[in-house]
Formats: sequence, structure tokens, C-alpha cells
Amino acid sequence: MSELYHVIESQQFTLELLDELYEMADELDPERSYKFLNDKTFFLLFYEPSTRTRVSFQMAMHKLGGSSFMTENAFKFSSVAKGESLEDTIRYYCGMFDLIVLRHPDNNSSQDAVSVATKPIINGGSGSHQHPTQALLDLYTIRCEIGRQDNLDVVMIGDPKYSRTIRSLCYLLSKYPGNHITFLSPDSLKMGQDIKEHLTKHQISFDEFSFLNHEVLSKADVIYVTRIQTDRVPEDADRQHTIDNLLADAEPFILKPEHLDWFKKDSIIMHPMPIQKGQNRELQIDPETDERCVWIEQANDYGLRARMALLLKILNG
Ligand code: NCD
Repeated sequence: MSELYHVIESQQFTLELLDELYEMADELDPERSYKFLNDKTFFLLFYEPSTRTRVSFQMAMHKLGGSSFMTENAFKFSSVAKGESLEDTIRYYCGMFDLIVLRHPDNNSSQDAVSVATKPIINGGSGSHQHPTQALLDLYTIRCEIGRQDNLDVVMIGDPKYSRTIRSLCYLLSKYPGNHITFLSPDSLKMGQDIKEHLTKHQISFDEFSFLNHEVLSKADVIYVTRIQTDRVPEDADRQHTIDNLLADAEPFILKPEHLDWFKKDSIIMHPMPIQKGQNRELQIDPETDERCVWIEQANDYGLRARMALLLKILNG
């Protein structure tokens, strides 16, 4: 049995721990309510918007019998607005709760929190850096839908530059032999050098193309789509211009119903959500029209099971 305390970045998961968590997730039934964490409490400290991560953590805790408390928009609705540091906020919450889930725009926020924490910290999204629990549920979705975590052809479309979910999933996929990753994005949103070096070091082959490559997509087991993260574009005088350019660059990567004919019968289409609304909607396929669309199950059932397993492992050993 592996130990688990803080969850900071997806590299930290060992194969043994992933197997243990996924076996727990298989056994847990989100339709049921358990009493495993009856006397436990956790705090969701969110400095950035969230729908699925927040609700799925709250629901996971509720299903296990524990209680959750939270601050949404912590920059505005907590003492941070009065100048309190992240470290002081963490010190306080550690005195009150058994675990803290932190979402923060700084890439190093989780490490900063851990440096003063006396209770487990779960990174619920750190800037454009990492989102390890999303990767955990993404890989769980792949395992349940495709039946394996190795020898996969995974295509990641959209925004590898700013997407923390793509980055964290690359780290997990690099733990298994035979996986091949292809990034399809405009040149302006290419994957960072650090991830490419990590993949090379772990003998995971990868390609990148700046067009929606038919040949690549017709071989893919997993098609993982992300929105263009315009919210990550730095504040400066040219911001709106930069955003307009990124959205224009990304237009040729929009997935439409006619692309469904390109994909293998046993492939799956995933998305960490949210999907952009309006004319820039990066995934224009209706999930009810094709059973290869799994992004609703990814967020709901698979997400809940994976997070229930994670909380149980940290708080119950
Ligand atoms: C993602 C995130 O916050 O990084 N959402 C999520 O947690 N499921 C993806 C995104 O914001 O595009």
C-alpha cells in the first residue's frame, strides 16, 4: 500500500498508487452514501472560478459522509482582500480542517501552501501549470472506456500552452509504456519545452502539427479537446488584440460533426470542460449524437469516483 498526503503535481503518482486508487474507484458507487469520513471536514479555497472541480470534490466528500466548507472567489471574499498572504490563510485553515483543496492562479501556489501546511493540501488547479486531480480522473476515464493506460494514441487539441489539464495528463501518460501523444494546435499555443523534455526522457514519443491532421485523428484512441485559455493571456495594453489573434489562430482546430467520420469506431472524445460558448466553441459536436463522446461521464461519474477514492486514500489511509 502506498502513502498519500499532499497532492501537488501528477508526476508524484506512482504506478502502484494509481492502480490502488483506480481499484478503489471501481469499488465505490456514487449512487450510495458511505460513512467512511463521518468526522472529517475539508475546505475548498478557490481563488479562481470553478464548476466541476468544486462540485465534484464537495459531492465526493458528501458521499463519503464528511463535510465541506468553502470560499469561492477568495481574492474578494476572504481576508486576502485585506492583504493576508496565502501562507497565513493556509495556516489558519489547517487549524480548522482535515484537508484543504486549493485552486490559485500562481503556478507555485500549491508548493507555497505545502511549505506551511500542517494538513494535506490538494492542488485543485495551479495557474497554467498543473491540475493533478483532473489528470487522475482523465486517466481513469481512459482506463474505464478503453480498458488500458498503455499503448495509447492520444491526440490533444487546442491549447497545450496554457492548459494545465493537458500538462498534468502528459505526466501521467508518460508513466506507461507505448503511449504516443500528438499535439494539434496553432503555432501560438504550442506545448512548452519542459513537457516535451519530460516525454523524451521517459521515452514517450510525441508529434505536433499546426493543422487538424486527418491521418493522426483517424488513428487516435483518445481525442482530448481543450478550450483556448484566453483568461491566461497576461494583462497588458495589447491583451484584447492577443486574444483576438489566438481565437482566430484556433478556428481551424474546431471539431465539428463532420469530423466524426474520421475517428475510429472505438475511440473516445474527451474534454475537461468548460467548453467555450458561441462562435469560438471548440467542440461543436452534440454529446448525445455519438457514444464516443464521453466528456459528460468524464466529469460526472468518473470524476466523482476518482475524487472519492483520492479523499478516502488521504484521509483514511
Ligand atoms: C479546467 C481547469 O480549470 O483547468 N477545468 C476543470 O477543472 N475541469 C479546464 C479549463 O479551465 O479549461
